[in-house]
Amino acid sequence: MAFDKRILCIGAGYVGGPTMAMIADKCPTYKITVVDINPARIAAWNSPNLPIFEPGLDEVVQRARGRNLFFSTDVDAGILEADIIFVSVNTPTKTFGQGSGMASDLQYLEKTARQIMRVSQGPKIVVEKSTLPVRTAEALDHILNSNDKGIRFEIVSNPEFLAEGTAIRDLQNPDRVLIGHHQTESGKVAGQAVVDIYAHWVPADRILTTNVWSSELTKLTANAFLAQRVSSINSISALCERTGADVEEVAQVIGRDSRIGNKFLKASIGFGGSCFKKDILNLAYLCQHYGLPEVASYWKSVVDINEWQQHRMVGRMLEQMFNTLAGKRIAVFGFAFKADTGDTRESPAHTVVRDLLAERACPVITDPKAMKEAQHDLADVLSLVQFSDDPYEAANGAHAVIVCTEWAQFRTLDWKRVYASMEKPAFLLDGRNILDLSALRAIGFEVQCVGKG
Ligand code: UDX
Ligand code: ADP
Repeated sequence: MAFDKRILCIGAGYVGGPTMAMIADKCPTYKITVVDINPARIAAWNSPNLPIFEPGLDEVVQRARGRNLFFSTDVDAGILEADIIFVSVNTPTKTFGQGSGMASDLQYLEKTARQIMRVSQGPKIVVEKSTLPVRTAEALDHILNSNDKGIRFEIVSNPEFLAEGTAIRDLQNPDRVLIGHHQTESGKVAGQAVVDIYAHWVPADRILTTNVWSSELTKLTANAFLAQRVSSINSISALCERTGADVEEVAQVIGRDSRIGNKFLKASIGFGGSCFKKDILNLAYLCQHYGLPEVASYWKSVVDINEWQQHRMVGRMLEQMFNTLAGKRIAVFGFAFKADTGDTRESPAHTVVRDLLAERACPVITDPKAMKEAQHDLADVLSLVQFSDDPYEAANGAHAVIVCTEWAQFRTLDWKRVYASMEKPAFLLDGRNILDLSALRAIGFEVQCVGKG
């Protein structure tokens, strides 16, 4: 079949995979190819067992794969034939040199840019999909347009706002799509080419265009504002625990103020995920770089509160459990950073397990989707941690259960059965406020949750 347009995505991760699957599904006359240097990942995308768990993703991939959606490790071939190239490689926090622990590590992005420049035989639109520091497009522009073949590359920024666990819903029905382009004639044409892709299914009034720098900064700002809400309510949760106020009541009432709104006000053991911490640190680094240390420390405090919130959970267990956890079996319910994903990047459960180990407790982890990832994350302490697919088995003989992820299946467990198998007194800390605490108290559990005295 002759396709109207050929789109390539470099990087088949949590962002690239689902986004391209949706574009392929909605634009059957476009050929969409997703490439990655990781052959195991590509093999999984081509198999019945996709490399990431995301509700609804399997169906979308199955409809388009082999028709106009292709997964491959041949990056060069993909670049050669593409009209538009989305770059969705990883941009983790730098762990070395200047800006270590804060700035973005752009080495994968730069390698990709150089490969595009080397392989291309004609003009292309290169779209930044990965979250990047403001003015990265300038560097991309510089590298790509320094080619000696006379080829012109246009850079467009199109940050992704999907959240894991709801990626397909978010892609299908986004609040907005953001496309940043240069304000030159060729920049506008390139921006319009990207608008045309989304216009296949997104209403025109939800496709917003800005200049490139605003687009890059908007992505960081959106994540910083969302994370700030979680840290704000979590900071109040600690005060609620001391004063007898109930954080859920407080959140519900402030959320009724239309200026505040009711979303993202759920107190928890802290936020996780690949984006929030990384993007805020990146934002703070940029502020420092541009001579704004006060602004940097304002945003950095959102991450500081989050770390404090994560660490205070084991402290609360310790206090309740006679100031010693040594040798005690503790069931950790959930290791994913939130429900409906197998992703464990920056998961608060990881902090909890490390803190339990520091107290010489014996954690037993159970999670419906993230067991492989948990074992990978805890590779250095595997002999000290147990894993069980079955929450009942994990809780058997435990002194305490701590709920770290709000998986629906934890709500409907037979908690009487869990209680019967545990050491007494049986302690429970609901780090996500998902359980019916009065029912658990009636069973006999000694319970704590977040933000209630
Ligand atoms: C986030 C942004 O939502 C998304 O727009 C962006 O593209 C990527 O980063 P994600 O990290 O997938 O998405 O998940 P999100 O739903 O935002 O949750 C992040 C963390 O905050 C999770 O650990 C979640 O449990 C926690 N959270 C969220 C709370 O603790 N309370 C809340 O009220 C909301
Ligand atoms: P995200 O959550 O932003 O999608 P991931 O880490 O899940 O990030 O995915 C990024 C993907 O990019 C990884 O699968 C990685 O192998 C891939 N990648 C990194 N560098 C390159 C490269 N130079 N060429 C192709 N793929 C790359």
